Amino acid sequence: MAKPKVFVTRPFPDVGLKRVLAECDAEVWPGPLPPPREVLLEKVRDIEGLLSMLTEQIDAELMDAAPRLKVISNYAVGFNNIDVAAATERGIAVGNTPGVLTDATADMAFCLLIAAARRLLESYHDILAGKWRTWEPMGWIGQDLVGRTLGVVGMGRIGTALARRCHGGWGMRVLYYDVRANEEAERTLGAQRVDFDTLLAESDFVSIHTVLNEETRGMFGRDAFRKMKRTAVLVNTARGPIVDTDALVEALRSGEIFAAGLDVTDPEPLPPDHPLLELPNAVVAPHIASATVTSRNAMAEIAADNLLLGLQNKPLRAWVNPEVEPRWRR
Ligand code: DGY
Repeated sequence: MAKPKVFVTRPFPDVGLKRVLAECDAEVWPGPLPPPREVLLEKVRDIEGLLSMLTEQIDAELMDAAPRLKVISNYAVGFNNIDVAAATERGIAVGNTPGVLTDATADMAFCLLIAAARRLLESYHDILAGKWRTWEPMGWIGQDLVGRTLGVVGMGRIGTALARRCHGGWGMRVLYYDVRANEEAERTLGAQRVDFDTLLAESDFVSIHTVLNEETRGMFGRDAFRKMKRTAVLVNTARGPIVDTDALVEALRSGEIFAAGLDVTDPEPLPPDHPLLELPNAVVAPHIASATVTSRNAMAEIAADNLLLGLQNKPLRAWVNPEVEPRWRR
């Protein structure tokens, strides 16, 4: 029997890729950059399965170019790059990789939080610039962590994992803003669900862990920064467009907030001459929160499972749109 034809938009860890190569007639875009849009539209023409990265825009136009497509397996927990409604309408299953990058991402959020609070990058750059002349009694003063207030926007798996670190390790009070209550976090961490304005006004550290959608796009703009403490640190490990970049640059420049630690930005990648990168109080990483051996391998296994199960019209291991089942392409 002929193997199903699939397209993989970039090489990913062997634990998943090898299984895809063994069980499918697979073409893997050699990378390191994503396939250009016009190439992708061509490559999907007669495939049944697509293994995509968060860098590809998987929209209705692309799905219409792929009349045999049954399953899209995204190598990411976030799936804002996929028009899920369009996929469901066309009978295409969508999978993602939740649960296995929680600790890695929470660790990264904490790493950014402490680096921004303690001015780590700024002081490192000052060393490189020859500004470290002596121990300074008044130099490079940062923010304390112990006993401060953490505000989590989006108290899901990752937000809760960060709150656990900050509450358990640094005795922080935890506030959160979410459309749903997280009773476990309330019970075990004493987390308090508050409205957005209260969270902004009372938090010393605000960490974003919500999904990107039309409600959250630009949620952190001028108005939000005005409501935050001047000593506050903003952390974003979710998606760049949740923060209005120009407003953030302004808030950091004018001292409206103390610092920011960002693993995600808008745009991505940031050009090296972007104003954000010139600010001493912005710590920026190139979207690496899930980049640990364990997380990336586990993501690869789930992404391969989702793809292979979808090709057989079996329930995906992590299924974003199970409601597609009655109209799933066979
Ligand atoms: C995700 O999975 O959504 C992260 O942003 C990248 O691993």
